[in-house]
Amino acid sequence: MKRSSLHVLHYLSTAIIWASVYMIAVEERMGNEDFIICQRLLTENIVDIKDMRDVLKMQNRIVRFSHPVSLITLESGIQGVFKHVSNGEDACEVAAFKAAKFLGFPYVPPTVLRTINGTRGSFQLYIPTNFDPAHRGNIALVLKKAHPDDIANLKIFYFVIGQWDTEAHNLLINRHNDSVKIIVIDNGCICSHKHVKYGEYPFLKLSADESLNTQDWNLPFPFERAKTLISPTQESLKDILGSSVPDGLCKWLLAMQPLKYVVYHNACWVSFTGHLKGIDGHPFAYTTYYPEKTIEQLKKLNLEIIKEIFSDSVGLEFLTEEFLTSILERRDQIVAHYNLFKSRSAT
Ligand SMILES: Nc1ncnc2c1ncn2[C@@H]1O[C@H](COP(=O)(O)OP(=O)(O)O)[C@@H](O)[C@H]1O
Ligand SMILES: [Mg+2]
Repeated sequence: MKRSSLHVLHYLSTAIIWASVYMIAVEERMGNEDFIICQRLLTENIVDIKDMRDVLKMQNRIVRFSHPVSLITLESGIQGVFKHVSNGEDACEVAAFKAAKFLGFPYVPPTVLRTINGTRGSFQLYIPTNFDPAHRGNIALVLKKAHPDDIANLKIFYFVIGQWDTEAHNLLINRHNDSVKIIVIDNGCICSHKHVKYGEYPFLKLSADESLNTQDWNLPFPFERAKTLISPTQESLKDILGSSVPDGLCKWLLAMQPLKYVVYHNACWVSFTGHLKGIDGHPFAYTTYYPEKTIEQLKKLNLEIIKEIFSDSVGLEFLTEEFLTSILERRDQIVAHYNLFKSRSAT
């Protein structure tokens, strides 16, 4: 075969893999380097698999995670973190990467979906770091040295994409002299349906039950009707959430007090995030500082692009029209808040 035909073939096969992974708007924002890394993560042979718990222990790091996670070395030497999660959380890890690529912030390592030893999961570029944010007290000091744009962008990303777990263990940090690089990992829980007012804790949909027959399909989310659960027990929680909710989830929630709940759209929506510490004093994703470029890019988000970002989740239960439009609704809240602050500072 001629060199030129080989070249065309190589180009075509690259383009096909690429097109099957990312489509147009997100691809446009993806650098060549990310593209190559994604391809390697997708196709290279595996030469070594280690349990992430052993890796972290060897590095003298705090082990604080729940899913089966492995550190995998590929034939070219690059390493990836493979995580087996269910209910679309793996596809959401990919969506978070694509969203960050489209927006231009924050840094989420290249992530793909791959089946390894018969198990499907998210496979993300491993980023070696020199700082452990899981050590209590460390993170606030270090983040004081981060660029204010990076902190604001992280919070704006969290709010818009729907990452409600805003604690430091979802970040990796690299510190070099006076600069701090924030790496955003563990975004699977963006798949939960939620309602949130900017500057407050979100309500997450925890259980659905047709027999609730709420008949409120045209009404807005009733934040004002939220009830606080005082001294809940496993039984009282089950009465509210329904008996089909697993005991494990009830126990977990009881450890997450204060708990508030609202019944809406035949489902129970719970705010259990009041215990979160956040990264810099704000327990939830909130900022009053908005980099102009960030707002410009947020305004470019539309339903088509969001569908493209979540294209790996097509067919999964969480991916409803309501879920997709709620991202735009949160984007609108951010832009409205930005406009408010701008008009106030102009007067
Ligand atoms: N891309 C990555 N680069 C380096 N380390 C990672 C990466 N992703 C995860 N880890 C490490 O693996 C641990 C578990 O991964 P994580 O996604 O947080 O799992 P879980 O969802 O169970 O909390 C993290 O706390 C971190 O130490
Ligand atoms: Mg984690």
